[in-house]
Amino acid sequence: MKLFIDTANLEEIKKANLYGVLDGVTTNPTLLAKERIQPTVQLKKICDIVKGPVSAEVISLDSEGMVSQAKELIRIASNIVIKVPCTVEGLKAARELSSSGIKTNFTLCFSPTQALLVAKAGATFVSPFVGRLDDISHEGMDLIRDIKMIYENYKISTQIIVASIRHPIHFLEAARIGADIATVPFGVIEKLMKHPLTDIGIQRFLDDWRKLNQALSNSGIEI
Ligand code: G3P
Repeated sequence: MKLFIDTANLEEIKKANLYGVLDGVTTNPTLLAKERIQPTVQLKKICDIVKGPVSAEVISLDSEGMVSQAKELIRIASNIVIKVPCTVEGLKAARELSSSGIKTNFTLCFSPTQALLVAKAGATFVSPFVGRLDDISHEGMDLIRDIKMIYENYKISTQIIVASIRHPIHFLEAARIGADIATVPFGVIEKLMKHPLTDIGIQRFLDDWRKLNQALSNSGIEI
């Protein structure tokens, strides 16, 4: 499963990139608004750090506006992917975008039928939001299972990005189901490698090593 980071914060992106396991970035208007920097400038900086797909979202609600914003956004860098909402207007925009070779990421996906239609329209990626479904007492991961099954039924190549991930179990479940990608906030990425037994184990090894050194130096032996 590929790992994308879900942020527009450069420090977080740089730190995660150093881990050597980052495959791409997803942004949205809320995440870019937090940075208080001109979005095009920020997106360019992000694309300079990460060579994989970087999603940038259109704001327009009608298909013509979406297509024209998409054409502006792709000028930022060759790895920009256009995020389009799962609406009828988004669907109408998808055909033109995919026939122009523009990669798309259909966002705010909350149903398998949305996922099927955007795939038929040529979506490169679809982003089902699991956390926001959990928030309203719907099993977010059931949506991932459904989309995965439907895409397999019809050998659809649209890639599933599990989005709105809130904790490591979302990430783990996404991998169990076989989602193509998980887009994960930095705080959750950090937790993925954390284990208290690893920390306790390291401490114990270091303590024992120190004791050995002490014992050997007491006997006049260097190690
Ligand atoms: O990738 C979508 C994500 O940014 C939404 O996450 O936590 O606002 O539901 P959240």
